[in-house]
Amino acid sequence: MRLIFYFSFVFLLQNISFAQNNAKIEALLAKMTLDEKIGQLNQVPGDISTGTDVKVDNILVQIREGKIGSLLSHTNFDNKIIMQQVAVKETRLGIPLIFGFDVIHGYKTIFPIPLAQAASWNLKLIENIEQVSAMEAAADGQNWTFSPMVDVTRDPRWGRAMEGAGEDPYLGSLIAAARVRGTQGRSLSDPTTLAACVKHYAGYGFIEAGRDYNTVDMSEQRLREIVLPPFKAAAKADAATFMNAFNTLNGTPASMNKHLITDILRGEWNWKGMIVSDWNSFGETIVHGAAADDEDASAKCLNAGSDMDMAGGTFQRGLKKALENGKVTQAQIDEAVRRVLRLKFELGLFDDPYKYLNKERHKTNIEKKEYRTLARTAVAESMVLLKNNNDVLPIKPTTTKKKILIVGPYADSRGNKDYMSFWTLGLGMRDYDSTKVVTPAQGLKPALEAMGYEVKVAQLGKNGTYDVFAQKDAYEASAGVDLIIACVGEQGMNCGESRSVADIHLPGNQEEMLKTLKTRNVPVVMVLFNSRPLVFNWASENIDAIVVAWQPGFETGNGLADLLTGKTNFTGRLPITFPRNLGQVPLYYNHLSTGRPQTKFGTLWTSGYLDSETTPAYPFGFGLSYSPVDYSEIRAERSTIGNDETFVANITVTNNGKMAVDEIVQCYIRDLSADIARPVKELKSFLRVHLEPGDSKPLQFNISPEDRSYWNQDLKFKCDPGQMTLFIGSSSEKVKKMEFNVVK
Ligand code: BGC
Repeated sequence: MRLIFYFSFVFLLQNISFAQNNAKIEALLAKMTLDEKIGQLNQVPGDISTGTDVKVDNILVQIREGKIGSLLSHTNFDNKIIMQQVAVKETRLGIPLIFGFDVIHGYKTIFPIPLAQAASWNLKLIENIEQVSAMEAAADGQNWTFSPMVDVTRDPRWGRAMEGAGEDPYLGSLIAAARVRGTQGRSLSDPTTLAACVKHYAGYGFIEAGRDYNTVDMSEQRLREIVLPPFKAAAKADAATFMNAFNTLNGTPASMNKHLITDILRGEWNWKGMIVSDWNSFGETIVHGAAADDEDASAKCLNAGSDMDMAGGTFQRGLKKALENGKVTQAQIDEAVRRVLRLKFELGLFDDPYKYLNKERHKTNIEKKEYRTLARTAVAESMVLLKNNNDVLPIKPTTTKKKILIVGPYADSRGNKDYMSFWTLGLGMRDYDSTKVVTPAQGLKPALEAMGYEVKVAQLGKNGTYDVFAQKDAYEASAGVDLIIACVGEQGMNCGESRSVADIHLPGNQEEMLKTLKTRNVPVVMVLFNSRPLVFNWASENIDAIVVAWQPGFETGNGLADLLTGKTNFTGRLPITFPRNLGQVPLYYNHLSTGRPQTKFGTLWTSGYLDSETTPAYPFGFGLSYSPVDYSEIRAERSTIGNDETFVANITVTNNGKMAVDEIVQCYIRDLSADIARPVKELKSFLRVHLEPGDSKPLQFNISPEDRSYWNQDLKFKCDPGQMTLFIGSSSEKVKKMEFNVVK
């Protein structure tokens, strides 16, 4: 009762403040000239640039002239104060600026990349990471982050796969909402939170051939079923802003795609926020060949429902002309300006423009010790154990001074942004302090020495490059050791935007190094630092234990040591499929059956390859732990239900190992007789269950009519009677199953 009263009260306050803001916005709008309005729609880049260079001549002059409404990518705190002072004190109307920034996996404290965080399947952890990241960024004067990136992708070639939550729309939706909650907190006006920006709307994860910025073409069904759910979830979680995508979608650039923006986002979902372009994506409509010039591009983007122009200056050059020539109306411009002003009001910037520029918070709220602790937990929860032959891991204490070698190009690298990604702009682009990263060697060496080992470190190659070391260095370093930990992978700077690859093999001569090390006939543990699924079939067959570490951030070595020494158990599960061959891509668990599914490699006239299995190297949802968990058969009281009823299933999970574990129990369905072909499996739910050794826990899963609904031939979202399969298991492949019937 009290809770209902509390929420009604909060709701009432929100409505009052919304109405008050509206009145203030209208009063301000009435005073603004056309140029001032267009200025509010202009966002200008700062001291860090992620796109093609845009000339920023004298930002202060432009602010003074009312030509800038927002800035992005400014790292310098004091400069932000100066700019805000100019906006507030030296412009006619004193409208404050908003500062936007890409806070992708931490601001000053660097956490695992978002794809790694997704591998934790831990929504609370992800929310906490976003909360801390927002706190640090807000303490540095930022008000708005260009995050979360919620693009579902099935393409490991794409450099930006690392920024999202992987291939599944359900997991992706939960994570999208968690990120928004963590970033925005309870109130946008709280100066320790940021406004979120959900990106890239939409389709970007499906670029052809995994090549960044490329074309996207897909059915409306796929769009609605796979791409849009995380956006919808983020909109529902009240994300303040959205960002357009660079790509065309079915021929129309996303920034001028009325169907996406006006019909779906603002229409069907009734979302009220502001939409910013991606970096010059209004201008790029001209390069796409979908607009003639700045005027045409401005008109088309505004008409579609986009509001703010990031970094391109297209609106500055073209919007006035578009109005003069009747291609847009004054009312449309006003509406876009209203949305920008509303965001500024909601952030509290009109009440206090320096709210986020507090010198005290700037000193105290950045790089706190507890942020590091959270980062260490996040590292341990996001790594995934793919193989562990003969229980090589965890490493057990020794009394006989056994020797361990930590070796490879990523054993102890100080390469630029290694163990993280280019998307750590809060540290600057290049001249950041790399000693803040605990490397694998720095974390593992003391932990292993404390267990009685003699530890040797051989960092091969200079600064994390993988082609410049000699195999003889690896061979010599491994002489006389009892266990080898080989740290391999990708350079940090090769992860992120504009960093697509055409070959996803473990790069350089690293596989050769693994082969060299294996000639020593001692167990080898491979630790992979990666931003995307890579192909490493030789290692899968020959290396004793394999850990996917992703790019883990500052606490790399500590989190890794916690896992390898068994201080913590592995819980991570792959949020994206790892293929055997690049030729299988796109390879994803929730595919359709085809009329000729292949069950055995080499069977002609079935859907397969002559030269490769169709199955993945490691499927979606897969990950081992140190404690094998047993799944009972699935039980259900009723195996036939009505179309408007929920199907209830039960299963018991038992920890048969010697360590406590958090098991991620996954529940999938398949609709066997729908109106259209449905995926062979779709994740519908998962539970994270803590099991002490010997624990057995009964679990229940509910499959509601909404869970069974899909976009049918008439593009209606509905469920229908028919036969279904329910799967519950530890991955998308290792499952128990049961059939059930849905009747009218
Ligand atoms: C990226 C966005 C990013 C923006 C600002 C663009 O190139 O696509 O994701 O937010 O730059 O840095």
